[in-house]
Amino acid sequence: MTPEHLAQIHAAAFQQDRSWSAQEFKELLSSPLVTVISERGGFALTRLIAGEAELLTLAVDPKHQNQGIGRRLLNRWLAGDMDQAFLEVAADNAAAFHLYTCIGFQITATRRGYYRRQDAAAVDALILSIDLTHGQPALSTAKNIESG
Ligand SMILES: CC(C)(COP(=O)(O)OP(=O)(O)OC[C@H]1O[C@@H](n2cnc3c(N)ncnc32)[C@H](O)[C@@H]1OP(=O)(O)O)[C@@H](O)C(=O)NCCC(=O)NCCS
Repeated sequence: MTPEHLAQIHAAAFQQDRSWSAQEFKELLSSPLVTVISERGGFALTRLIAGEAELLTLAVDPKHQNQGIGRRLLNRWLAGDMDQAFLEVAADNAAAFHLYTCIGFQITATRRGYYRRQDAAAVDALILSIDLTHGQPALSTAKNIESG
């Protein structure tokens, strides 16, 4: 996927938040530590430093949501070689929180009022992590959809 395509999906997925530009994706992808995992309609951008994997962002185009793409991207990410994985999610993001906790992520910290919202109260950021030193989680089953 090109940086332009990543930016397009990100903007469609994150309509309430500031979306990331193609230039920002290009700069992130220039790091050897950063990897994009993608399939038609969605992608996960991840970073691996000394066995610690971070999910920088996960986005599925609304046209393709609820078809198992997000879950499959996460499963592919967690199948990599890592000791621990972590990510950050807004406390009001029910879809993403559901997905992460189903896979086995647990809340390890909270940043109070981290996400500023226009015309609404700020929302906490939850830091979720999963320990993979004893192997991968029982990877959840993806719904049946062709990869693109
Ligand atoms: C979060 C996101 C990546 C999920 O991707 P997706 O491809 O739609 O997810 P899946 O189809 O794999 O569904 C995974 C689970 O989430 C559930 N889910 C999907 N939308 C939901 C919603 N609005 N509320 C609650 N659960 C929801 C699904 O039911 C499924 O759970 P189940 O298998 O137990 O039924 C996608 O909604 C998205 O891009 N959202 C906007 C960007 C975002 O919030 N990214 C994450 C930031 S941390």
